[in-house]
Amino acid sequence: MFFGKKPHLIGLDIGSRSIKAAEVAETKKGRTLKNFSTIDIEPGIIEEGAIKDPEAVSAAIRELFKASKLKEQNVAISVGGYSVIVKKINVKTMTEDELHETIHFEAEQYIPFDISDVNLDFQILGESEQNPNQMSVILVAAKKEMVNEYVSLIQMAGLNACIIDVDAFALQNIFEFNYAPEEENVALIDIGASKTSLNLLKGNSSVFMRDVSLGCGQINEKISSFVDCSLAEAEEIKLSEQSDKVSAEDLKGIVSSVVTDWCSEIKRALDFFYSSYPEDQIKRIILSGGGANIKEFRKLLAEETATAVEIINPFGNFSVDNSRLDHSYLEQIAPQAAICMGIAIRKIGDK
Ligand SMILES: Nc1ncnc2c1ncn2[C@@H]1O[C@H](COP(=O)(O)OP(=O)(O)OP(=O)(O)O)[C@@H](O)[C@H]1O
Ligand SMILES: [Mg+2]
Repeated sequence: MFFGKKPHLIGLDIGSRSIKAAEVAETKKGRTLKNFSTIDIEPGIIEEGAIKDPEAVSAAIRELFKASKLKEQNVAISVGGYSVIVKKINVKTMTEDELHETIHFEAEQYIPFDISDVNLDFQILGESEQNPNQMSVILVAAKKEMVNEYVSLIQMAGLNACIIDVDAFALQNIFEFNYAPEEENVALIDIGASKTSLNLLKGNSSVFMRDVSLGCGQINEKISSFVDCSLAEAEEIKLSEQSDKVSAEDLKGIVSSVVTDWCSEIKRALDFFYSSYPEDQIKRIILSGGGANIKEFRKLLAEETATAVEIINPFGNFSVDNSRLDHSYLEQIAPQAAICMGIAIRKIGDK
């Protein structure tokens, strides 16, 4: 036991385009961001949360830790994508122990996978709004195969996975930490390279969470087939917004068609909210992930949903170690840092 040394971990968000690491410490100034770093990985190594090349990913994690001088071995990671299902369900009122006994049975009808293939977890929220004899429970099911893949990946990188979070929860966690939300309804949406997490909050609780297979990589794929180039080159063309291989107009058309799809998917989720809670209104949509940077998407989403759209600031309530971190870098990376920051403030011992 080391006196004065608090249990401590690094938040590690293993994205399909970039891996992010954040180190947060408790100091006299409150939560202090000590370190935030990222490393890019090649397209195709991770897809929608599934790790296709564990050696390459673990090598990237090692490199990230070395380059950023991260010494801590305990990490918190998160999983998302199609192998994770989070659902709010209602069950007969019972104790937590009783629910432990029956959760497999309760969950079966909600999970599209074989129940023996998933790790189940739950959190009791309290009495159901619809029926006083029932309670609301958040059910989490993650494919065992995928969770095991992540745990062995972390081991392969020489680290220890203390906490396995879920992307949509991490997003909610960082939102709550920075925004101290009142009784307000918001949509949290993280659009990464290959997956999107949606989390609709009614007041302080989540009423809808879903991960879908949409992401900025779709734009790269379309550019790559349009101009017949590699995905890496397509990404360059997308980010520089110019190329002699594709006209500005065609490029705009490609981006437009992809973000229109995203808007339809988001509208479907919002429609679900409005049909369940017709009296309520979602006040704002808070975007994160690389997709949040796309101005045209933000504009279209605001028009189509008639809702205010903004980009998350995941660093707002942290003090920042200025000797190590540059403000303009943090500003630029902010949307992509949201999930990682949500994981980084988990504590050892958290569920
Ligand atoms: N200004 C921008 N315009 C268009 N796309 C952008 C912009 N900035 C970032 N992106 C895209 O965002 C993606 C990276 O975002 P992010 O870091 O959130 O993804 P990730 O976490 O690695 O992926 P995932 O969570 O889906 O596995 C890349 O596809 C990148 O091209
Ligand atoms: Mg991501």
